[in-house]
Amino acid sequence: MSERFPRTSRYNPDWIRSSVSGGANSLWLAEWLTEAMSLGPGMRVLDLGCGRGASSIFLYREFDVQVWAADLWFSPDDRMERIRDAGAEHAAFPIHADARSLPFAAGFFDAVVSIDSFVYYGTDDLYLNYLARFVRPGGQIGIAGAGLTREIDGPTPEHLAAWWEPSMANLHSAEWWRRHWDRSGVAHVDVADTMSDGWKYWLEWQRAIAPDNQVEIDALTADGGRHLGYVRAVARRRPDVALDEPISSVPVTYVKRPLHRPRRRAQRFDAGM
Ligand SMILES: C[S@@+](CC[C@H](N)C(=O)[O-])C[C@H]1O[C@@H](n2cnc3c(N)ncnc32)[C@H](O)[C@@H]1O
Repeated sequence: MSERFPRTSRYNPDWIRSSVSGGANSLWLAEWLTEAMSLGPGMRVLDLGCGRGASSIFLYREFDVQVWAADLWFSPDDRMERIRDAGAEHAAFPIHADARSLPFAAGFFDAVVSIDSFVYYGTDDLYLNYLARFVRPGGQIGIAGAGLTREIDGPTPEHLAAWWEPSMANLHSAEWWRRHWDRSGVAHVDVADTMSDGWKYWLEWQRAIAPDNQVEIDALTADGGRHLGYVRAVARRRPDVALDEPISSVPVTYVKRPLHRPRRRAQRFDAGM
């Protein structure tokens, strides 16, 4: 419960806890992210990397949108039960999908929302170009999750070393995301910022759901927001930019040719004799 997140505070803490699929409170992040987005009744929203689907139900209930609840690691069957129990089965559709190989038509979504998930695939330079294809021109793409308050250039700070793993190289600052998305040329970045006191919410949530995770709790406490925090970014697909069609095959026709060069005949120079 937190006054900072009035929408989330209406949900039963046991229900939120039972749908935990990562290290963050997905409703807090979804609430913060949607403060910077414009969602309304009937819009088609892709909740990309939705885990066990709490954020998808939140999006439906708070904004009356239709949600495609897509995730790779967690079963869509578990999500379906949660969605049904929340009375959302007519508007939230669980789907097993890899963000790198999405099974949707071009321009299908009004918005994509991704909670604490985008870092697993979205740091690829070409990923936004790929994802933007599924959003209508002018549609929104919003991400929120664990990240950095500033980039770490050089070795891992000593106070984070015990907790840090090589895979955390995917954590980035809001400024990094702004530049990354700006460079793509396919979207206009409206917002890229850091949650005020985000590290405190991160810590509070860790203490609530994983009080034995002392390594992470110690790292967050020692850091005190110097490097760790929550970041979000919201962009709109530029209507004036035509997106490349994805290349799935290049048609070619085989033409048989000899493997080796023909041998050259030795040239004779008789010098007129
Ligand atoms: C830290 S969990 C967050 C889950 C949920 N959004 C939340 O906030 O509780 C990261 C999620 O990203 C999803 N994910 C990672 N790589 C993915 C990919 N290539 N395609 C789709 N989802 C992916 C995982 O399945 C996982 O549920």
